[in-house]
Amino acid sequence: MGLNIAVLANLKRNAPKYEGMSDDAWDDLDSDTTIDAICSALAAGGHTATFLEGNLSLIEELPKLKPDLCFNICEGHWGDSRESHVPALLEMLRIPYTGSGVLALALTLDKPMTKRVLAHHRLPTPEFQVFDAADEPLDPALRFPMFVKPSREGTGMGVSAQSIARDEAELRGQLRAQLARYRQPILVERFIRGRELTVGILGNGEGIRFLSPLEVNFAAYPDSEADVYTNRMKTEWAHEFKYLCPAPLQPAQVAELNRLTAAVFRVTGCRDVARVDFRLESSK
Ligand SMILES: Nc1ncnc2c1ncn2[C@@H]1O[C@H](COP(=O)(O)OP(=O)(O)O)[C@@H](O)[C@H]1O
Ligand SMILES: [Mg+2]
Repeated sequence: MGLNIAVLANLKRNAPKYEGMSDDAWDDLDSDTTIDAICSALAAGGHTATFLEGNLSLIEELPKLKPDLCFNICEGHWGDSRESHVPALLEMLRIPYTGSGVLALALTLDKPMTKRVLAHHRLPTPEFQVFDAADEPLDPALRFPMFVKPSREGTGMGVSAQSIARDEAELRGQLRAQLARYRQPILVERFIRGRELTVGILGNGEGIRFLSPLEVNFAAYPDSEADVYTNRMKTEWAHEFKYLCPAPLQPAQVAELNRLTAAVFRVTGCRDVARVDFRLESSK
């Protein structure tokens, strides 16, 4: 029997405006195309799907709709743990939802916190330092080139060829620029040169399924992007779909990527669906 499903998301066109917002402020929010595709897929499965904007109006709208289940892809609008707000609300309203829960969504929006959990479990993640100010002393163990990005954003916000810092002057300049623009701690990692892959995962426990690894085809992009999956590629050029899928990999490499994906999914407490990104370090 079909379910009454509420599709919860934050549409870019509904996003709040505020003074001094940067032009990439809501780059991680969703489009009508995405919501229509999800609603059509649920309808094709025999369910009734209704889109609701994931903000405080849910407190009134959900008791009216009385869904059996929520399909949640909300990014949230405000605060350090914004992706976990709607799941928290749904738990308070006692409405079941798909996807990860409050803790996993708060954790994985925060890149340094996630890296600490991965490091604890000896899962590979580049050496790093977090800066609250641009002039903090640099950890002498870190080596250039380094990569500079905001701690709690997505969709490559703050990520461009300029994120690669070859020396201390470039590093301090990027830190100043990103601290001013994103007003949050800035993450500096060792720069990993190499191919870029992502692995999708569906299901839980014994029922886990992996999607074929997808590779970003850097050869199809201009040199200006410096073989980095930049904000521009993820927004302006997002509809060009320059991916290799399945990525040309040996079966042993796919098995290792799947093993790491499942391990990251487990230790971060994810549920139902996730994606883990990799840079395959070249030995050169
Ligand atoms: N340490 C790094 N070394 C090399 N490239 C990196 C590094 N960190 C990020 N990048 C590049 O920047 C892109 C976006 O960074 P990521 O950490 O995945 O942030 P987002 O949450 O915005 O996807 C990556 O897909 C990769 O191309
Ligand atoms: Mg990424």
